[in-house]
Amino acid sequence: MTHKEIGHNFLARLGKKKLRPGGIEATDWLTEKGEFSKQTKVLEVACNMCTTSIELAKKYNCNITGIDLDSQALEKAKINVKKTGLEDKINVLQGNALKLPFDDNTFDIVINEAMLTMLSFKAKKKAIDEYYRVLKPGGKLLTHDVAYLNPELTQIFDELSSTININVSPLSVTEWEEVFQQSNFSNVESTYGQMSLMSFKGMIRDEGFINTLNIIKNGHKKKNREMFKNMHTFFTKTGKDLKYIAVCSQK
Ligand SMILES: C[S@@+](CC[C@H](N)C(=O)[O-])C[C@H]1O[C@@H](n2cnc3c(N)ncnc32)[C@H](O)[C@@H]1O
Repeated sequence: MTHKEIGHNFLARLGKKKLRPGGIEATDWLTEKGEFSKQTKVLEVACNMCTTSIELAKKYNCNITGIDLDSQALEKAKINVKKTGLEDKINVLQGNALKLPFDDNTFDIVINEAMLTMLSFKAKKKAIDEYYRVLKPGGKLLTHDVAYLNPELTQIFDELSSTININVSPLSVTEWEEVFQQSNFSNVESTYGQMSLMSFKGMIRDEGFINTLNIIKNGHKKKNREMFKNMHTFFTKTGKDLKYIAVCSQK
């Protein structure tokens, strides 16, 4: 059986650093809601290559633990952290969002971008319960996912899953807000907008002009062409009405 590469691993291999539906527009909204400071103790779940952790540590000088299931992405994370000289600020380790290796009431902020969408409803709840458990009272959960407004869009989720080679279950904007409330979070606030993962404009904003040209050039290499075209076509045509959603919830 041929191994099919998962969409975010494919994009990372092409050189993309922000592997999330709303790019920096959503991350900036979350960061503002987080009210980070030097004293904030942060957990980034699904840190992958640590793009967000590095930006947060650079900007706020806060201490961050990054956790991800994928050992290869974590190797890249360790190199990136070392390159930026932030080893004393960012600690990365392998672990599962569904069973976090931390005591109750440990963190001021948990940030989790572009992961919950990939879980079943039951697993989403389990991860969100874990985030609640490890947050200190008053702590904030910052999440970033795929959402929809028109219920007819649920018909394209199978095609989305087969395009990016991983099962995905986006929720509606209302369902996302409810899922955090059901896990006892309060002050749930959200914003949503156009998904920008594969749009030219979104890539230039998130990755810069030169990097975008390199990503597109790599995407057109023979071995990448088919998947790049399929992903681009899906997100700019079939799935053009999909949204990103960023949610800030408080314990
Ligand atoms: C689409 S990438 C997002 C990476 C990064 N957060 C970003 O926004 O650029 C999803 C990440 O979630 C990680 N992941 C998936 N399931 C996980 C789980 N149960 N626990 C921890 N990480 C998980 C994957 O390994 C991958 O690195």
